[in-house]
Amino acid sequence: MIKVRVPGTSANIGPGFDAFGLALSIYNTFSFEEKNDGKLTIRGVERKYQSDTNLVYRSMQKVFKKVGYHPKGLYIHTDVDIPISRGLGSSATCIVGGLFGANTLIGSPLSTEELFDIAVELEGHPDNVAPAIFGGLVVSMNDRGKNIYIKSAVHPCYEFYALVPDFPLSTADARQVLPKKISFGDATHNLPRATMTYLALANGCPDILKLCMKDRLHQPYRKKLIVHYDVMTKKAREMGCLNTCISGAGPTILVINSVSNQDFEREMLAYLAQKAPGWRIIPLSPDHTGVQVLGG
Ligand code: HSE
Repeated sequence: MIKVRVPGTSANIGPGFDAFGLALSIYNTFSFEEKNDGKLTIRGVERKYQSDTNLVYRSMQKVFKKVGYHPKGLYIHTDVDIPISRGLGSSATCIVGGLFGANTLIGSPLSTEELFDIAVELEGHPDNVAPAIFGGLVVSMNDRGKNIYIKSAVHPCYEFYALVPDFPLSTADARQVLPKKISFGDATHNLPRATMTYLALANGCPDILKLCMKDRLHQPYRKKLIVHYDVMTKKAREMGCLNTCISGAGPTILVINSVSNQDFEREMLAYLAQKAPGWRIIPLSPDHTGVQVLGG
């Protein structure tokens, strides 16, 4: 039995739209076994995901097809901790889990870079799959078919919280509300802010992080899809956090807090219990390792 553990991710981090992603200490774990029974067996997920349309299985097939391998039968088990359709990279974990599981099952014929390329092809953009594979704070891009990434550790002065609502939001719906064109002014607004956000997270500049995360490319359009977005972000600021952003395409709100602001979690828990019982708070730290094959 092979186990593959994949971290959840938060893409964009405010002004880094379609570029930044951060791996976080919340995981989906996938177990794989090749069987002789000629069947596909998928467990640990709702019945509607237990067929050959399952994303983990489809990702495995990409590897098998590329190397010309035909498994006799397959058993897949999924342990899910990452909330689904909440902007925390759960679909990227399925893709990465399936690719690394299949590759390990057949003796690792493909390199990590080759698996990264297939993962981007399946997901359509690299900003979740790159940190899910490599861990840390990652900037990624696709240049004429070639996927490139650069990774940094997050400075230990920061901690993170996911404020997760009780409603899902699909990435397709959240991309639908984006404009087809943006102004020159909005582009130049985001450029220094994105650069500063990355450097402030990597180098530990909390005073700059407080000021530099305002985005004009996606959050103004998407926040309308997230009930209570304004009040949640305002409350988080009042409780002394450094900054907030939409996690990926939403609807989760990512809070960046200073480790010295020790009362944040307790105060936010009390607020949610009283005013927004459908929301929950998940304390998180950066994962600097990325995908891990735990057996096989
Ligand atoms: N960068 C993508 C988006 C991430 O914001 O649409 C989706 O997971």
